[in-house]
Amino acid sequence: MATKDATWAYRDRFDGPTGEGGFARTYFRRFADCIVSSVGVGTYLGDSTDAVDERYHEAIVGALEGGINVLDTAINYRNQRSERVVGRALADADVDREAVLVATKGGFVPFDGERPDDPGRYIREEYLDTGIVDPDDIAKGVHCIAPDYIDDQVDRSLSNLGVETIDLYYVHNPETQLEHRSREAVYDRLEATFTRLEERAAAGDLRHYGVATWQCFRVPPDHDQYLSLPEVIERARAASDAAGTTSTHFRAIQLPFNIHMADAFTVAAHEGPEGPQSTLRFAHEAGLSVFTSASIGQGQLASEGAIPDAVAAKLAGETPAQRALNFARSAPGVTCSLVGTSSPEHLEENLAAGTYTPMGADAFDATFE
Ligand SMILES: NC(=O)c1ccc[n+]([C@@H]2O[C@H](COP(=O)([O-])OP(=O)(O)OC[C@H]3O[C@@H](n4cnc5c(N)ncnc54)[C@H](OP(=O)(O)O)[C@@H]3O)[C@@H](O)[C@H]2O)c1
Repeated sequence: MATKDATWAYRDRFDGPTGEGGFARTYFRRFADCIVSSVGVGTYLGDSTDAVDERYHEAIVGALEGGINVLDTAINYRNQRSERVVGRALADADVDREAVLVATKGGFVPFDGERPDDPGRYIREEYLDTGIVDPDDIAKGVHCIAPDYIDDQVDRSLSNLGVETIDLYYVHNPETQLEHRSREAVYDRLEATFTRLEERAAAGDLRHYGVATWQCFRVPPDHDQYLSLPEVIERARAASDAAGTTSTHFRAIQLPFNIHMADAFTVAAHEGPEGPQSTLRFAHEAGLSVFTSASIGQGQLASEGAIPDAVAAKLAGETPAQRALNFARSAPGVTCSLVGTSSPEHLEENLAAGTYTPMGADAFDATFE
């Protein structure tokens, strides 16, 4: 488990102009009682092959040994290969495991190593016939967030990652369930699953939990895919009461955020004490950490010209990818920007992004003028 002492010692090793990383001010940021890098490694993209596993292994070891102590994965990424390679790299890197925030997700039914010839048959035999999943709980043929299923997925992720405790466990894209049930039923389901996650936290299997999302916190309230962040937080509080934990372990959200997907900053979709607020604002005031996904537009913002010139001119960084990453990690309320990195050359560039000082709040606002 990531600990206060080990993460702060990690920061001391890399922080400041004289540290090993030469990182700029605010590169390391608070997460609960820990401190984490504001650039994290994601593991979503890439084929399910041994060759890609090896690239990720090298990149993740390099990241951990270079000043990145946030790893993000999910059980379904690359058919469980990403979780397994995160586990191997964590064990192999010359870094204390307790210095690293390991985050994973459950919700999309995962295959095992590769996509089977008959995916329907695999899901039936592995999950339905065994009683782990009730067919009524499946949305879009692949998504389930029922408590018993998530319980099972937490066990599998612990085993894949080779850790005793998952530092941050996300319910993955809960809005997918909106295609299958009402919004109220999704909140009820989240509350039941959060209750189970509170129990797993009390048992020491995970430290914090949250929701990783794609659409629900970026769209306005009248959108089909909308979920209310205040309501989700309320359900986490109720879950803590039901589980008898002293306070909720719900601590973070994840959403896409980049120059072309800045809705979490611009769309006031969540009812705050004085009217509607953006997701970033509401999350900040509720004490939640925000992790951004697709921080460089799934690679697209790394090309010359992809960032509008007027915005690029305001962003520190030598390369387009560094400027894109610095936009995401400059947004107020963002703890860490995740960037999918399986290439050691990209890793070097993304680590160096952290040597540039992020924009202040006024300068960030000004990029929208
Ligand atoms: N709903 C969700 O929960 C959700 C959705 C999407 C993503 N995520 C998480 O967020 C992480 C980040 O998002 P993402 O991976 O989708 O998109 P991303 O980080 O915006 O982009 C990753 C892509 O950019 C490439 N890249 C990385 N650094 C580069 C550089 N310096 N120059 C040029 N290209 C570069 C990567 O290639 P290489 O691999 O070759 O280095 C990869 O193809 C994911 O990995 C995942 O952990 C969560």
